[in-house]
Amino acid sequence: MTREQLSLLSLDPAGAATYALAEGAVLLRGFAKSKEARLFADVERVAAHCPFRHLVTPGGFRMSVAMTNCGELGWVSDERGYRYSPVDPQTGFAWPAMPQSFFDLATTAARSAGYPSFVPDACLVNRYAPGARLTLHQDKNERDARAPIVSVSLGLSAVFLFGGAARSDRTARVPLVHGDVVVWGGPSRFFYHGVLALEGGVHPLTGGYRINLTFRKAV
Ligand code: SIN
Ligand code: FE2
Repeated sequence: MTREQLSLLSLDPAGAATYALAEGAVLLRGFAKSKEARLFADVERVAAHCPFRHLVTPGGFRMSVAMTNCGELGWVSDERGYRYSPVDPQTGFAWPAMPQSFFDLATTAARSAGYPSFVPDACLVNRYAPGARLTLHQDKNERDARAPIVSVSLGLSAVFLFGGAARSDRTARVPLVHGDVVVWGGPSRFFYHGVLALEGGVHPLTGGYRINLTFRKAV
């Protein structure tokens, strides 16, 4: 799917465009851009505390995306499965608190997307280097199905795959650029999604990486 093929839902006076991806799912083009410096500084602060690492899937594969977390809970994976943990398994200490800039962005984006009561308690920070990808999956380790997922893209561009309720459903290819925010919930809360292998490049803010923040209400 190209940018032009996305269906435009609204264009506000400042030029911010909202596109519909599915029922309950929207792309807020450039929504995070004006906050980029604060957001990225906070990513670096979180990573200084709990460094990015490549988790192992329950099947024993090392994930190509490097991850860390902030907030009350963090998403982790190992031989025992996927789950949320209140502590970083590498250190046994709590994850860093969710930076105010993250919380404010996630809640204002959710509100714009029609989810005014979203209060995230977990933020998974994904770091993609060239070649890193995320295969089609559902986000289903969270307890509250009413809360949406809010996903923020910073740095290098990527192609986001957004499918349907079944793994075999057709997937839209949505180009995500620096500052874009995708929110999915309600009827599309458990839709399959993924990210194609990142292409190389250099971004003025993030260098050779794409950073993605996904906000969830885990409990
Ligand atoms: C995810 O599904 O957790 C990440 C999506 C993305 O990197 O855009
Ligand atoms: Fe996901």
